[in-house]
Amino acid sequence: MKVLVINGSPRKKGNVARMLAAVREEAEERGFDVTCLSVSDLKVAPCTGCMVCRSRLSCVLPKDDAQRVLGLIEACDVLVVGAPCYWGNMPGQLKVLFDRIVYGMMGESASGIPKPLHKGKKAILVAACTTPFPFNILFGQSQGVVRALKEILKWSGFKVVAAVQQGGTKKRPVTERKLRSCRRALRKI
Ligand SMILES: Cc1cc2nc3c(=O)[nH]c(=O)nc-3n(C[C@H](O)[C@H](O)[C@H](O)COP(=O)(O)O)c2cc1C
Repeated sequence: MKVLVINGSPRKKGNVARMLAAVREEAEERGFDVTCLSVSDLKVAPCTGCMVCRSRLSCVLPKDDAQRVLGLIEACDVLVVGAPCYWGNMPGQLKVLFDRIVYGMMGESASGIPKPLHKGKKAILVAACTTPFPFNILFGQSQGVVRALKEILKWSGFKVVAAVQQGGTKKRPVTERKLRSCRRALRKI
């Protein structure tokens, strides 16, 4: 079982990184083949919106890390994406990455009906924000991250089996209880 873990936070020792580490540890204990990457290490130019990739199935921009990550997503069985909440959504770098690889995530019929390209694969989401529980959910803060990532993954064919959210990170970092939830999430695949 190949597991790809993407950290959408620029903080490599932050809350999301710790939550993802718990998922990774559980996966490694189960003998899965785990690859981890951090969007802050990637060089990905923003999408120009030309739409050429939809018919050509490749991007017209000079090759960068977007294509490399798409290759890893294509090769994985389970995708784990973690992101902090920035303005009720995922950070820009992570969104830019998903924009650039749209053609490898979701195809389209001649009339524009989406065709998911990763059917049968599973996904786990983790998100963190400073807004405390239950307002992180009610006001769409970490919930906004989960909603936005689910939108991408749903249309790409992934089944999201678990979404773990940590609110209130200003007052205290991610809790042990939440780390246990992250480990449990991996057991759902
Ligand atoms: C640019 C920026 C925007 C943010 N926007 C929000 C927000 O809209 N709502 C919120 O609750 N927290 C917001 N935060 C706080 C982060 O979500 C929070 O600190 C999170 O725990 C960071 O996770 P990390 O340690 O993994 O990077 C923002 C932080 C930054 C840097």
